[in-house]
Amino acid sequence: MDLKSQIILDKLPRHIAIIMDGNGRWAKQHGKPRVFGHRNGVKAVRETTEAAAELGIKYLTLYAFSTENWKRPKMEVNALMTLLVETIKNEIETLNKNDIRLHAIGDIAKLPKKSYIALQQGIEITKNNQRMTLILALNYSAKWEILEATRQLALQAKSGLLQPEAIDEDVFAGALSTKGIPDPELLIRTSGESRISNFLLWQIAYSELYFTPTLWPDFRKDHLYQAIIDFQHRERRFGKISEQLV
Ligand code: IPE
Ligand code: IPE
Ligand code: MG
Repeated sequence: MDLKSQIILDKLPRHIAIIMDGNGRWAKQHGKPRVFGHRNGVKAVRETTEAAAELGIKYLTLYAFSTENWKRPKMEVNALMTLLVETIKNEIETLNKNDIRLHAIGDIAKLPKKSYIALQQGIEITKNNQRMTLILALNYSAKWEILEATRQLALQAKSGLLQPEAIDEDVFAGALSTKGIPDPELLIRTSGESRISNFLLWQIAYSELYFTPTLWPDFRKDHLYQAIIDFQHRERRFGKISEQLV
């Protein structure tokens, strides 16, 4: 039986988040510069987005650039920013055709102007699409996001608009950049690293984590199906015991 038909369609995660890792090592394996790996990662983005939308996943978040990634060699950072512009421009028509809305989380105003503009255009052009939301995490880090939310709430409290006692999980979640987006049920990281690297710390409090040795440029639809099948075989207890689950 093929992998796709093993997926239970009424038990799909609503939101899948992916730490796309391993482009550099993939390039090295092919005897090419790191940027070659990033370029080949675009195909994996396309395939994963298409597979998720076809299945009926409602939100797909892709970690594309962390706040820490600015520390990389300037040439690589520039290449990534250029690739972002190119990819958005090339893919926008397909996103529209497939009824996919583009969204971004992270400190995107600090991206180079060209990247920022391309991103905003992509978001604007696809804003009415309904089938799935594709969220790019760009210049994103979870600690940055949590600090921003805290500052925002502190300001509201200071001005008397918010009572400190009123700050509960919902209020806090509403101050994060993922406001309105359900938490990911499934988090995938490629390339064999078993860490979170400052991604969605609040939102993954109860996510199922799936680590695969596959390098991102090799990631295809079947890899996504495999991760979803694995997810569907897990028992999510949320603190309860098995017998309490229906
Ligand atoms: C992920 O691949 C892409 C980004 C972080 C932008 P890497 O570039 O981190 O690849 P490795 O981990 O060095 O192999
Ligand atoms: C995490 O990958 C960030 C993205 C995938 C965008 P990194 O390759 O930057 O993570 P570390 O530095 O190995 O933890
Ligand atoms: Mg990496």
